[in-house]
Amino acid sequence: MTTLIYHGHSCWEICSEEGRILIDPFLSGNSLSPTGPDDFDQLDAIVLTHGHGDHIGDTERIVKQTGALVVCNFEISNYLAARGLKTHPMQIGGGRRFPFGHVRLTIAHHGSSGPRGEYLGAPAGVVVTTGGKRIYHAGDTGLFYDMKLIGEMYGPFDAALFPIGDNFTMGIDDAVKAVEFVAPLLAAPMHYNTFPPIAADPDDFARKVMAIGFNAKVFAYGEGWELP
Ligand code: NI
Repeated sequence: MTTLIYHGHSCWEICSEEGRILIDPFLSGNSLSPTGPDDFDQLDAIVLTHGHGDHIGDTERIVKQTGALVVCNFEISNYLAARGLKTHPMQIGGGRRFPFGHVRLTIAHHGSSGPRGEYLGAPAGVVVTTGGKRIYHAGDTGLFYDMKLIGEMYGPFDAALFPIGDNFTMGIDDAVKAVEFVAPLLAAPMHYNTFPPIAADPDDFARKVMAIGFNAKVFAYGEGWELP
């Protein structure tokens, strides 16, 4: 049994019998999320897609509470290791099996800088396989044709998560095209409505995804979904 839980913005939790994983834990800075960093007492890993504050978020605080391993690109790994966190560096194209599941970094077209403008490597998408289910988190990205390759090589995905907020990432129409390229069993929107520049209607995304023959679900903040 693998459960996917949405904590708002781009933060998703994946729980399986192999472990508990959190992606991009932006919680205390997100007034829309019902979840806070203190809600995690046990956690195996935090996976980060890139260095922006609304993705690294509460990583340090949660790691200090739980001892979770941070899996991220080499540059973010160095940055967080220097701050005393336990990290595992990877780079795009690489995959690795951990006790809690398998993680692969994929390309994403975006930026990746730290709070003081530090260079934090290339932004990434993430494929997590755990409990026999496979999830693609696209990270922050524009649309790119190689999503088709990601779907063919690393899918089929039980769920795929796409930014729809426009301005900093894909907007709805590009995200719908991304669903067509990746062809997941379930598509869900993220990275919308947290700030005024990324206002978007997730139901519009879901309607357009279903209109091209794919399954979509808009997660409420804090909602969990057991992947069938
Ligand atoms: Ni970003």
